[in-house]
Amino acid sequence: MGFRVLIADPLSQEGITPLLESEEIQLDIGIEWTNTELFERISEYDALIVRSQTQVTRALIAKATHLKIIGRAGVGVDNIDLDAATEQGIIVVNAPNGNTNSAAEHTMAMMMALSRKIPQAYLSLKNKQWDRKKYIGKELKNKTLGIIGFGRIGAEVAYRAKGQRMRIIAYDPFLTEEQASKLGIKKGSLESVYAQADLITIHTPLLKETRYLLNQQAFEAMKDGVYIINCARGGIIDEAALYDAIQNKKVAGAALDVFEEEPFYEHRLLELPEIIATPHLGASTVEAQESVAIDVSEDVIRFMRGEAVHNP
Ligand code: NAD
Ligand code: MLT
Repeated sequence: MGFRVLIADPLSQEGITPLLESEEIQLDIGIEWTNTELFERISEYDALIVRSQTQVTRALIAKATHLKIIGRAGVGVDNIDLDAATEQGIIVVNAPNGNTNSAAEHTMAMMMALSRKIPQAYLSLKNKQWDRKKYIGKELKNKTLGIIGFGRIGAEVAYRAKGQRMRIIAYDPFLTEEQASKLGIKKGSLESVYAQADLITIHTPLLKETRYLLNQQAFEAMKDGVYIINCARGGIIDEAALYDAIQNKKVAGAALDVFEEEPFYEHRLLELPEIIATPHLGASTVEAQESVAIDVSEDVIRFMRGEAVHNP
């Protein structure tokens, strides 16, 4: 019996070629499995590969008695109980670079759609309305974009937003004045981002420190009529506080790709015309999916062969 690998979430077929071609690997695709089946069969596997759908909880890990490596085909590992994995001696690898470009492009697409009300105008036209007055937008040029979290995606968004001739102020505990001035952006505190930004985009991981970072107090500290974009993680925004901030006109609109609980469709936020949303599509491009699946497949193979993994 070879090294048994289970893929539990849909991954790019081209991206998993390294696994399919390896003679040492026995690969199973469990994307149609129920949670019960996953719990019953996880002990058969040496490696588990997921995207963001499967919740790799402490309870699942406890059942995974032969598991040695968990691969996350993407960046965020918040769907994996890292403490439980570590306690059981299971290594977790991710694919931090493969979807950066796609997530940055999606952020820009959401920002433009939000400021020009494109989804709302499209829906109206589909409903046979020709309304040119209702959908007056705002230009991005000369607006201040606040970026919270200036890592891979935040920096790529800044690069693109400069192309839109926006001013940029970023908050990230690891951003230095020197890096900021090299990039032609301003480094600010969280408070200064709230006070100055016309649009705020979030690009932090979901951590204890970032859960509900954008809460009622944060919205109160922002400029009137601010726009919010979240293509990072649900849970960074307090959705109830966002709802209130839109109702009381503090926030002019929000573009959301991620939600505290996913899937997300039956929610009062989606009833607000100021909200535009996509179902966690930031990394959903052919290129990104192929790239993250290759990265994580190659790390699983390296691990199996006793070589050093690239993205622990
Ligand atoms: P990254 O690790 O490169 O960057 C994250 C940055 O956040 C780091 O620079 C870090 O210093 C900063 N940070 C951490 N805590 C902070 C805090 N309290 N305040 C401000 N900054 C803080 O990660 P990335 O690849 O740029 O990904 C960013 C986010 O986007 C992650 O949450 C990731 O899961 C998410 N993501 C979503 C999609 C999608 O499909 N929507 C796709 C890719 C990534
Ligand atoms: C990520 O963290 O990489 C993204 O949320 C993308 C994904 O899971 O598909």
